[in-house]
Amino acid sequence: MNQGQTDYAALAAATYLPATAKIVEIREMTARERYYRLELPQPLGHRPGQFAMVSVLGVGEAPISISCGPRDDNQLEMVIRNVGRLTRVIHGLKEGDTLGIRGPYGSGFDLDHFYGKDVVFIAGGLGLVPLRSLIIPVMAEPSRFGAVTLVSGCRNPAEELFREDLKQWSQVPGATVIRLVDATENMPWKFDVGLVIDPLPKLPLDPVKTVVAMCGPPVMYKFVLMTLQAKNLGPEQIFVDLERRMKCGVGKCGHCQMNHLYCCQDGPVFQLSRIGALKEALR
Ligand SMILES: Cc1cc2nc3c(=O)[nH]c(=O)nc-3n(C[C@H](O)[C@H](O)[C@H](O)COP(=O)(O)OP(=O)(O)OC[C@H]3O[C@@H](n4cnc5c(N)ncnc54)[C@H](O)[C@@H]3O)c2cc1C
Ligand code: FES
Repeated sequence: MNQGQTDYAALAAATYLPATAKIVEIREMTARERYYRLELPQPLGHRPGQFAMVSVLGVGEAPISISCGPRDDNQLEMVIRNVGRLTRVIHGLKEGDTLGIRGPYGSGFDLDHFYGKDVVFIAGGLGLVPLRSLIIPVMAEPSRFGAVTLVSGCRNPAEELFREDLKQWSQVPGATVIRLVDATENMPWKFDVGLVIDPLPKLPLDPVKTVVAMCGPPVMYKFVLMTLQAKNLGPEQIFVDLERRMKCGVGKCGHCQMNHLYCCQDGPVFQLSRIGALKEALR
């Protein structure tokens, strides 16, 4: 190659080359979801709400949310649901095995939007996994925020994720944690029964100083947003975490494109004011 020419092969290798992460802890969370704590060669340096591309050589690669708060060490926490080819292979791995990790990717949540505000988290099902990366730093320093409310819902008691965390967060001064299931399905459950949207109309939300962060199935967004709008919360006060099919994670393949936005780079966390006109984004 001549001097001054761009080495595209080297650039591509740097973009797509995964680091090797060792699985140091695996915990069974539900029948479908497992918690993984990984050790990387060096800290990933992520922000809340970012994701990483996780791979197994010869099998494939998928975007997976980073579930821990920002941390200085070289550890990383994730929860992986067994749904298909790659995730089935990952569920077959043991502690000591390795995974490929590249990232962190995406915009994530900016904590500056949350300091000094009343914070409401709304998590539906697996949505608690990415939101946890923001909940952890907020719950760690409650004096830097106003009232903190977490509404966390899932299908039934067996599907609830991070039970120990939910219990601990409910003891944080100034924090309220509302735990719901759609139905108990005859399992023991001492919290609320209903949809994640049910408690929202009764929440005393100050329209001036409330900020909402939410992640869940698309059907949840429509009803949550209607309720928040009825409480006079503006689109600049609402942050949504959207999952779109992704392949490259770095704005090159177009898989995650929504008009002019690339979910992998501009998102997956969006301030609602940024995507308000993009109705398909919320479907
Ligand atoms: C930003 C982002 C963050 C994510 N975070 C997590 C996470 O923290 N934990 C987790 O378990 N999963 C997460 N996912 C979903 C995860 O990427 C997919 O479940 C994974 O790609 C499936 O790979 P597979 O090869 O096992 O399944 P495949 O064999 O490819 O597919 C199996 C089934 O899953 C469906 N599927 C595949 N990709 C997706 C997708 N992106 N969204 C919804 N359904 C899909 C397929 O249609 C098919 O029905 C996230 C996705 C995105 C975009
Ligand atoms: S995943 Fe390739 S452009 Fe977003």
